[in-house]
Amino acid sequence: EIERIVLRTILDSRGNPTVEAEVFTAFGHGRAAAPSGASTGTWEAKTRPPRQAITAAREHLVPALIGLEAADQAGFDCALRENDGTGDFSEIGANVAVALSLACAKAAADATGIDLFRYLGGAFTQCTPLPLGNVIGGGAHAANATDIQEFLVVPTGAPSADEAVFANAAVHKKVKELLFAAGKGCGKGDEGAWAPAIPDITAFEILAEAVGAVSDELNFSISMGVDVASTEMWDGTAYVYRDAKRSPEDQIAYLAELVDRYNLVYVEDPMQEEDFGGFAELTRQVGDRCMICGDDLYVTNAERITRGIEVGASNCVLIKPNQIGTLTDTFEAVHLARSHGMDTVMSHRSGETTDETIAHLATAFECRLLKTGVVGGERIAKLNELIRIEELI
Ligand code: PGA
Ligand code: ZN
Repeated sequence: EIERIVLRTILDSRGNPTVEAEVFTAFGHGRAAAPSGASTGTWEAKTRPPRQAITAAREHLVPALIGLEAADQAGFDCALRENDGTGDFSEIGANVAVALSLACAKAAADATGIDLFRYLGGAFTQCTPLPLGNVIGGGAHAANATDIQEFLVVPTGAPSADEAVFANAAVHKKVKELLFAAGKGCGKGDEGAWAPAIPDITAFEILAEAVGAVSDELNFSISMGVDVASTEMWDGTAYVYRDAKRSPEDQIAYLAELVDRYNLVYVEDPMQEEDFGGFAELTRQVGDRCMICGDDLYVTNAERITRGIEVGASNCVLIKPNQIGTLTDTFEAVHLARSHGMDTVMSHRSGETTDETIAHLATAFECRLLKTGVVGGERIAKLNELIRIEELI
């Protein structure tokens, strides 16, 4: 039974305030924080300014949650939804909702003495996801850098999560070396990826070289991917790149060619957030060899995922708990995707805290990948937790 709830404002990785929640029962305690996006999808649950949302929640929401069973996650999340009453959390704030929902699960797990990944995943949870991390980036995450938001690596052949995490870090280091050697040394964007002023094609070439070198050294395969975050490029009729404007047809042809030229295994948000048909066409062309993943397209929302399933929009779904606001809805999104043969990828946001919960969720829900950057305190909080979880498994 929940006895006490604490809400506070803490710092996120961009220096912005965000919501942290603590849930106390007689025997357990859980703490979780809300992340935040820069390239958010239109259909995400709505956040409220943290201080204002917390003041309101202390008055109206928290009293309604005291006395609920922390072990009844669905009941707790239902209470959040009912108290909000809007369907998109614009009343209580999705940032307040997600922090409370995750803190509730952690309090329930703590009371049983079982690790969160096992509490949520069960006795047969046997493997960890592979880490997917961005090593070069631009778009909405860094000014004057690449057009494509994220150039990603995933060590597809890594024998363990531990080696996989360090493989990504080695690629990140190698990319720095190559950038500086080319006179393109630079700083990092919001998620810790290098943010060089280079054309996308140069980024692909440098990343391919780095991946090849590290893969040779470690003796397992490492693959490349991208998050195009193309809603950010869409002007209503075309995708606007620095050196080109691409119609939806051109965009599909361009990305299909990149998949083959660089053996991309992962392409996220290739088309803008309403173009289910464009997604479906690219999936039809390259879906047999590449994960085509919807982020802004689905916003972890079961209704939108259902629409995607109906038209074959993608073979992969990005999962961000704060896009939908509760753990129950997050689980339902994963379950729906998986029951239709789609891969799932648990993901951080560009604005993060040191909260490590998504490493547990990705493992418990058997996501294929955990997308959470490569370096930086708020990213390694999740990656290091993944290493610990693997040890426990
Ligand atoms: P965001 O971007 O967290 O800034 O929305 C991450 C992504 O697009 O995957
Ligand atoms: Zn994305």
